[in-house]
Amino acid sequence: KPFKLWGGRFKKGTADEAAKFLDSLPFDLRLYREDIRGSIAHARMLGRQGIISPLEADALIRGLEEILKEIESGRIRPEESGCEDIHSFIEERLVEKVGEAGKKLHTARSRNDQVATDFRLYLKGEGRELESLLKELISTLIGRARETKEVIMPGYTHLQRAQPVTFAHHLLAYCEMLRRDCWRLQDCRRRMDLCPLGAGALAGTTFQVDREYVARELGFQGICTNTLDAVSDRDFAVEFLFACSLIMVHLSRFAEELILWSSGEFGFIEMDDAYTTGSSIMPQKKNPDVVELVRGKTGRVFGHLMALLTVLKGLPLAYNKDLQEDKEAVFDTVDTLKACVRVMIPLVETLEVRPERMREAAAGDFTNATDLADYLVLKGVPFREAHGIVGQVVLRCIKEGKNLNDLPLDLYREYSPAFGPDLYEHIDIAACVARRRLIGGPAPESVEKAIQDFERWLEEN
Ligand code: ARG
Repeated sequence: KPFKLWGGRFKKGTADEAAKFLDSLPFDLRLYREDIRGSIAHARMLGRQGIISPLEADALIRGLEEILKEIESGRIRPEESGCEDIHSFIEERLVEKVGEAGKKLHTARSRNDQVATDFRLYLKGEGRELESLLKELISTLIGRARETKEVIMPGYTHLQRAQPVTFAHHLLAYCEMLRRDCWRLQDCRRRMDLCPLGAGALAGTTFQVDREYVARELGFQGICTNTLDAVSDRDFAVEFLFACSLIMVHLSRFAEELILWSSGEFGFIEMDDAYTTGSSIMPQKKNPDVVELVRGKTGRVFGHLMALLTVLKGLPLAYNKDLQEDKEAVFDTVDTLKACVRVMIPLVETLEVRPERMREAAAGDFTNATDLADYLVLKGVPFREAHGIVGQVVLRCIKEGKNLNDLPLDLYREYSPAFGPDLYEHIDIAACVARRRLIGGPAPESVEKAIQDFERWLEEN
């Protein structure tokens, strides 16, 4: 018969289907490390404060340390215990191991402040891990940007070719997004970094606990003050899920572009065989399934964010069992995010870039038209007027089946006397890119600066 933390006031046990419905052990066993850490800090505090004897505290701490080893080595398997959650399992095992003292661990504590503490510790750790994975991805993108500083590609608006940029510049745009994601994870960690222990079930405890001490022991920056809020707050989990949702937005946009670029129509890149798949019927196919699945997984992460927001909405203070729903939403998000970032790193690393195809595309569709208007401005024509003139020239080019680069000068002159023979070198695609060397611009020079900034940031963080 599995160990229960309660039962005195009940005449009979929980129905099997109800127990199965209520139990969280199948998923919250993932918190065993944090749960044991939290219990050790709590036991140490109980001993220091004289709430239990120093001998008892030592026995509890030693017992908990052993349980950690037992679980880690697979010698004991929580999932087979039939306990309702990881907290019950660890307490049961502790009593088995150290006897009577084990029954004192839960003095001045509730599972409500316990689970909130475990969850914060867990998310602090996972947030850090996710951040370092994101940095690995940024570093990979930076490496590819270094190689492609001179690779000219069309930049798009409305998915219509707009102005030439460099492939490196495009990759750096994703680096910016991913760096903001790192900052967002750090920022939400600041609010996560407060310890709920001591809040008890909802109203604190009558024992002389030292909340600050426990918080310090666990590496928290401080304590959650209001006891009701401490046990019912899951804002930190919502913020984490939002940060993850936005990371998925970024990965998904990138995935979408990779899919587009690898199509026959674009042909800008080719993904390595190792990160693509074939078709069961069409022998010629090479499909971008990996990035498609990254794009697709965005849906479930958004779902988890929405699920937790909905769980919290209208929930009265303080703890309600509804809150148990936070776990699977967060766990699946963590797993999904890590898997997506982990697979994107080698995929980006092995991406084959097709500079000729990009260059060719960049030279079409009049992507240098803005530069031609700027040329007129340099000759003294007001921009709005220049815009109109170049618009007419483009229309003429379309009619003649020509590019701006090969329309003869006498035809140009029909539209404005300001056009001179130097216009051709001015609208050369490489010149158009090289001229955009402002801070944050696509020119190889600016890209080099941005790359160095990112390298410095990666080193310092
Ligand atoms: N398994 C619960 C959870 O994850 C632990 C807290 C239980 N507290 C309670 N009063 N039922 O939320």
